[in-house]
Amino acid sequence: MRHVFVIEGPAVLSGDVTVTGAKNSVLKLMAATLLAPGRSVISNVPAIADVRIMCELLHRLGCGIDYDAGAGTVAIDVPEAPGITADYELVRLMRASISVLGPLVGRMHAAEVAVPGGDAIGSRGLDMHQHGLEQLGADVSLEHGYFVASAPNGLRGTDISLPFPSVGATENLVMASVLARGVTTIENVAKEPEIVDICEMLVEMGADIEGIGTSRLVVTGVPGLRPVDHRCVGDRIVAGTWAFAAAATGGDVTVHGVELDLLPNVADKLVEAGARVEPVVSEDPAIAGFRVIGPSRPRPIRVSTLPFPGFPTDLQPFVITLNAVADGVGLLTENLFEARWRFVNELSRLGARVSIDGNHALVTGTDSLSGAEVEASDIRAGAGLVVAGLTAGGRTEVSGVDHIERGYEHFVEKLTQLGASVERVEKPDTVIP
Ligand code: UD1
Repeated sequence: MRHVFVIEGPAVLSGDVTVTGAKNSVLKLMAATLLAPGRSVISNVPAIADVRIMCELLHRLGCGIDYDAGAGTVAIDVPEAPGITADYELVRLMRASISVLGPLVGRMHAAEVAVPGGDAIGSRGLDMHQHGLEQLGADVSLEHGYFVASAPNGLRGTDISLPFPSVGATENLVMASVLARGVTTIENVAKEPEIVDICEMLVEMGADIEGIGTSRLVVTGVPGLRPVDHRCVGDRIVAGTWAFAAAATGGDVTVHGVELDLLPNVADKLVEAGARVEPVVSEDPAIAGFRVIGPSRPRPIRVSTLPFPGFPTDLQPFVITLNAVADGVGLLTENLFEARWRFVNELSRLGARVSIDGNHALVTGTDSLSGAEVEASDIRAGAGLVVAGLTAGGRTEVSGVDHIERGYEHFVEKLTQLGASVERVEKPDTVIP
C-alpha cells in the first residue's frame, strides 16, 4: 500500500496558518548538540519525518532521545563519548545526516559517515566539506561509500575560503572549528537564516564566533562547550510555500511563525505578481508573520534563484506554478542546482506550458490547469504539485507523499483548515502479474 494526496480543485485558500521550526535548521541544531556532553533541548521542532530520522541517527550514536512531536521539543542526552559511525541505512534516507561529520570530527577527532544520496535535485558535491576538514588538519578519505575522517591530535585553526557559499559546508566547518585549537577564518560562507540560527546556538553553548550573518566568520576555538536550550528559527520555505499558495489561488492567508525579514526577495516577487503583502507584528515569534492577499489572476514574474538574501532555490516549484496560471509569460532561472526539472514534467501533466532551456524555465500562463495524476520527486516539488492541484480544475492525485512529509508538518490538516479539499488516501501498489 502507498499513500497519495487527492486534491479537488480549484480552491481559494483563506485563513490563518502557523509555521514551526525550519527543517533545514533543526536537523543541524540536533547534530550540533553532539559538541557538548549533557542534555540539550531544542524547541519549535517541526513534526516531520526528517526529525525522526535524525533522532534515530543520534540514538545510534549513543544519545538518549526524548522527542515530543506534539509539544515540538526534542531533548538530546549526549554521552561523554558518542559513537563515530553514521550508517548508510539512515544517511541514504536523508542527506542532512552529513551534518554529524563536522561535530564528530571536532569533538571525537574521528568520524565515519556514509556519503548521502538525498533529494533527486542534481549532483550535490561534498568536496568543500572534505577540503575544509582537511585544511583544519583532518585526514579525510572515501572508503567503501563512507567519509572516514581522523585527526588524532585534534583540529587546528586555519584560513578557509569557500569557492561557493555552500549551506552544508559552512555548517559542517563551523561545527568542526568551534573546538579547534586557535582561530579559524572562513570566507565566502552562506548567510542563510539557518546558518545564523546554528551560529547563535553555538555561541549560547560557549563558542566564540564573530561575523554571524556576514560572508566571513571568525571562530576562536574553545576547550569545551556546554549543553543548551534553544528555539529553532521558523521555516521560511514552508512560509513561502503558503505565501505562493495564497497568491496562486487568489486567496487570503495569514502566516504566523516567520517574519518577512527572512523572505526579503520573496515578498517583492509576490507584490510583482499582484499580491498584497502585509506584516503581522507581535513580540511573540510564534504569532509574528505576514498576510498575503492574492490577485484574482497573478501577473507573471521573473525570478533568479541565488544564495540568501537572494531568492531561495527551494521556492522554485512555486514560482513555476504561479507563472503557469499567470496572465502572460514568466521566467525562472535556476542558479544553484543542475536538474530541478523533474517537477516541470509532472506539472505539464496538469496542462502547464513550460519550456526548458539550460537553467531557464520559460512559462506561458494558462487560464486554468486541469487535475491529473502526478508524482513528487522531492520535498518541494511535491508541495509544488499540491499547490498546482489547488489551482487546477477537478481531481489531482499526488503520489510520492513520503517526500512531502519529510518537510511539511500536518500538511493535509493545514490545507483543509485553509478551505482546500485535500485527503490522504491509501492506494494499492500496482502489481504486474
Ligand atoms: C541546503 C538545503 C537545501 C537548499 C540548499 C541551497 C539543507 C538540509 N538543505 O542544501 O534545501 O536547497 O541548501 O539553499 O539544509 N556544492 C558543491 N560542493 C560542496 C557543497 C555544495 O559542489 O561541497 C554545490 C552543490 O552541488 C549545489 C550547491 O553547491 O549545487 C549548493 O549546495 P549547498 O548550499 O551545499 O546546499 P545543501 O547544504 O546541500
